[in-house]
Amino acid sequence: MWTKKDLLGLRNMDIKEIQMILDLAKEKKEQIQDPLKRNHPCSLYNMMTLFYENSTRTKMSFTLAGQYLGMQVSDLGVQTSSVNKGESLVDTALTLDQMGVDVMVLRHSMTGAPHLLAQNVKASVINAGDGSNEHPTQALLDMFTILEKKKKIAGLKVAIIGDIAHSRVARSNVFGLTKMGAKVVLGGPSALVPSTMTCLGAEVAEDILSAIQDADVIMGLRIQQERQKGGLFPDLREYAHCFGIHPELLTLAKPDVLILHPGPVNRGIELTTEIIDGPHSAIYEQVQNGVAIRMALLHLLTEGRKYYENLDQTGESYRSFYQEGGDLRYFDRGWENPKPAASRAI
Ligand code: NCD
Repeated sequence: MWTKKDLLGLRNMDIKEIQMILDLAKEKKEQIQDPLKRNHPCSLYNMMTLFYENSTRTKMSFTLAGQYLGMQVSDLGVQTSSVNKGESLVDTALTLDQMGVDVMVLRHSMTGAPHLLAQNVKASVINAGDGSNEHPTQALLDMFTILEKKKKIAGLKVAIIGDIAHSRVARSNVFGLTKMGAKVVLGGPSALVPSTMTCLGAEVAEDILSAIQDADVIMGLRIQQERQKGGLFPDLREYAHCFGIHPELLTLAKPDVLILHPGPVNRGIELTTEIIDGPHSAIYEQVQNGVAIRMALLHLLTEGRKYYENLDQTGESYRSFYQEGGDLRYFDRGWENPKPAASRAI
């Protein structure tokens, strides 16, 4: 049974919850290419995307995942909303909450923005990337792809190469993959690979060669120039020369090494074209798996809402719930005064 109102990150998610999403995603994947298999289990609910940062994959993936499940899907259209008249994020979300939005999918440049929203709205909030902090559904789809290809995660060496410092994908993957028993080794220009990442459970390699040595999986990351203040490495050509992944480097890794990248890829910078389109790459499958993962997550979150809506007998606001020490609690608004929603342990 799914018990969380929101999905904010993998840092505080337990293995059982991760496993639930990965298991259900297998079933959902079959429905992506076959319209007759889409059975619309979430048609009671609606979902809105609120993207304050650019996106192709994540936004369309959530949109289609919601539609395949039968949800009514809309987009705030941040560029044309009252955000441009100075309305705050929380005020915007409270307005949408009053209109009955059930699930809000938020991407924002500020770390913690989804957490702030989740504390203030009754809707379920999904973090679709907050600044350099987390991007949980990307890491879930990466784990799903690894499982599909390698049949396991525990015991694998996963090398993540590139701009670790500014990457929410790297952080969510470190949390998720280490929980699932993988060894995560980080490599890239030293200014972009903070040694503090070891506190999160990853290893920081001396150089890119030792990161790639015997790796089962190599994940390339984009240089997040929009988040850098500059001066962290000479230029992109220099980066490609020193840290770009090319076929010769792959000979250091396991012969059946799997290549991943969250996209968007800058061809010839993080990875050469031979690698992107080569036999080891699962970059396009990652995109399809992203839809499956988001379908699984949306299904679980909305099933959870259905259960709690029926469970609650108080007649008060019940749609904002969370679990604390076996007790189900809900919020009227915000974190202030949480009250037990039902005297029932789950
Ligand atoms: C990533 C993101 O936006 O965090 N992309 C994605 O969601 N597929 C990575 C990136 O922008 O480099």
